[in-house]
Amino acid sequence: MADKQAKLELGGQTYEFPVLEGSTGPDVVDIRKLYGSTGAFTFDPGYKSTASCESALTYIDGQEGVLLHRGYPIGQLAEHSSFMETAYLLLNGELPSQQEYEDFNYTITRHTMLHDQLNTFYQGFRRDAHPMAIMCGVVGALSAFYHDSTDISDPEHRKISSHRLIAKMPTIAAMAYKYSVGQPFMQPKNDLSYTGNFLRMTFGVPAEEYEVIPAVEKAMDRIFILHADHEQNASTSTVRLAGSSGANPFACIAAGIACLWGPAHGGANEAALNMLREIGTPDRIPHYIERAKDKNDPFRLMGFGHRVYKNYDPRATVMQSTVREVFDALNVKDPVFETALQLEEIALSDPYFKEKKLFPNVDFYSGIILSAIGFPTTMFTALFALARTVGWVAQWNEMISDPAQVIGRPRQLYTGPVERDYVPLSER
Ligand code: CMC
Repeated sequence: MADKQAKLELGGQTYEFPVLEGSTGPDVVDIRKLYGSTGAFTFDPGYKSTASCESALTYIDGQEGVLLHRGYPIGQLAEHSSFMETAYLLLNGELPSQQEYEDFNYTITRHTMLHDQLNTFYQGFRRDAHPMAIMCGVVGALSAFYHDSTDISDPEHRKISSHRLIAKMPTIAAMAYKYSVGQPFMQPKNDLSYTGNFLRMTFGVPAEEYEVIPAVEKAMDRIFILHADHEQNASTSTVRLAGSSGANPFACIAAGIACLWGPAHGGANEAALNMLREIGTPDRIPHYIERAKDKNDPFRLMGFGHRVYKNYDPRATVMQSTVREVFDALNVKDPVFETALQLEEIALSDPYFKEKKLFPNVDFYSGIILSAIGFPTTMFTALFALARTVGWVAQWNEMISDPAQVIGRPRQLYTGPVERDYVPLSER
């Protein structure tokens, strides 16, 4: 019996529900028995007040701008950790020992190649296909190639499929890019890091050696860390919902990729840079600020606002400093960065944005960095998907291992016609 109880009065009767406490963060009212005892549902479109699961992976305090993975602050991970180490942490709950780290790296490195038949699969896409369209298709198709790891009741199968997904995602994303520019696919190279390997598969060509620039590799790795997981966001909830029916992990991650593509979610990094380029010069900012505030104009400042963060998004802080590092390393000057900095400053001093607690999110600066590294805007969301695969598989594994897990099946507030008799066509 939980110590705290919540009381609900409905139809003249009082009902009590247990209040559950997490290790930190808001309490939750356990309403699992609500329908059974009262006959009523709750109504929460967009899940603004609903905890859909129990999770020990990631914690966000949106008021304070805090993001923790397994307890570790994102700023510390971005500064001191690597993407592979953060992946291990998310999957296993603790930071790895030296041996565990080497073993994990070895396993991931040796799963980076794709089944050769998948090359043919790529040829079926148009050359101008969006990389996210290719990612959805190819990742979904993995279940047709790796049958030997789709028994979700077997922890070993779950582990192998998780490793395969994390390992193959850079190869899949790089191939989507290569296909669009008409260059030959590059095979993975095992003496490179996860991120260095991805850069080489994307920007290298078979005709010459590719040299990974350490500052770019570090920045890219940090971007991957910043995107690795983010609690029960739309795409993660999609992966969990798809997985709750017992679907195989490759199909579930393909569902997550589809959800991430939307401009209100992962697609915002592409939309944010397109917007900054459209604004062009700082003198045009006020016009766009006015448009963002106009209720009759669908325009929104992309890369601004967040469902959970009502203070600065801690990932945006790290992103902003990474822009400078990459610009210095590559000797790049892009006026779009100046526009972004000024847009941020003007928006943050505007009462509309202040009142609504709208701050830059992770996507506001990421596009500027990715563009400086050489990625076309259409690849931005594919990179987000690559990194978020770690969070998706960790959350999926957590869900499947949870004895309380049942199929996700929300109910509704029905507002359609009540029962009526069918009228034959001749009488209508
Ligand atoms: N520009 C202008 N006004 C905005 C913006 C924006 N970017 N974001 C929210 N608002 C306004 C919105 O019109 C609403 O006003 P009112 O209360 O007068 O109706 C108020 O702020 C609250 O917004 P909301 O849409 O109800 O909030 P939400 O929690 O449903 O949406 C959001 C969050 C991220 C979808 C939204 O802020 C948005 O569309 N931002 C732009 C897209 C973006 O950058 N998305 C990336 C999110 S971070 C990466 C990720 O996790 O995927």
